Amino acid sequence: MTYQLYPLEINPKTGEPFLRLAAPHQNIIITPPRQGDQSMHMQHMNDPAIYGWIEGPPTPYLPEDADSWIQLIKEESDATLEYLRKSAEDFPNGPLQFVGANPVRNLREVKEDGTDVLIGDVNFRRSPFEEVLAEVERKRLREDNAKKQAGDPTIQYAIGDWIAVSHHGRGIMTAAIGLLMTAWGIPRMGVRHVVAHTFAGNIGSNRVFEKNGFVNRGLFDNGKIVRGEKKVLTLLEWKHDQA
Ligand SMILES: CC(C)(COP(=O)(O)OP(=O)(O)OC[C@H]1O[C@@H](n2cnc3c(N)ncnc32)[C@H](O)[C@@H]1OP(=O)(O)O)[C@@H](O)C(=O)NCCC(=O)NCCS
Repeated sequence: MTYQLYPLEINPKTGEPFLRLAAPHQNIIITPPRQGDQSMHMQHMNDPAIYGWIEGPPTPYLPEDADSWIQLIKEESDATLEYLRKSAEDFPNGPLQFVGANPVRNLREVKEDGTDVLIGDVNFRRSPFEEVLAEVERKRLREDNAKKQAGDPTIQYAIGDWIAVSHHGRGIMTAAIGLLMTAWGIPRMGVRHVVAHTFAGNIGSNRVFEKNGFVNRGLFDNGKIVRGEKKVLTLLEWKHDQA
């Protein structure tokens, strides 16, 4: 029967699918979200060196925020995994089916004793088209893009990511995004066009994308206000046919 989770590995003890980063980061794996991630997630989301560069998290980030977030992303991941399990029955001889999401997204550092710690997150989602300045046009593009079938090569995806400050600057996120693109996004989601919208001045984040072949298209101002502060954004763009 075709292995529809390819190329995810399976943890023999827990049955959990995962991707492992290549050396020298082989102790970092990318897994689905887990029940129990809430307290570490909350700790990271209350760190200004992380939340200060991302739009979503409320401040302060409360236990109930972590509960609803982990539930949401776990449901998304479970739905993708369930679809792939069912696809193995529906298409026993293949081909591999396209999906609209990455079921593995959480970076975890595996310790010598085999336990692991949540250290980050990386995810593809349908693009919010922040770079389109006219609001009506932006909304139309978002809606059209959101309706497209998984695997449609015209879908514009956006990447969001963060990693614990204790692990910054070691090349981990560069490797994680590279792996997620080549092992999952491109072959299993049919990703052909990806953008990232970073806050102006997020040099480290821009570098991570540039090191993965994204082109820096420069700054734009769509009037964004985050937690009461105006934010100018940088557009980074990757297209498969230009890679
Ligand atoms: C952005 C972030 C994900 C990067 O992860 P990381 O694992 O530290 O990134 P890497 O180590 O793979 O690469 C960082 C690169 O930026 C460079 N860099 C970082 N800060 C820099 C600075 N202030 N000036 C110049 N270069 C800088 C590093 O030198 C490295 O580039 P190099 O390999 O060419 O030397 C991480 O810093 C983070 O989580 N920040 C907070 C949340 C965030 O910004 N998320 C992204 C939202 S768009």
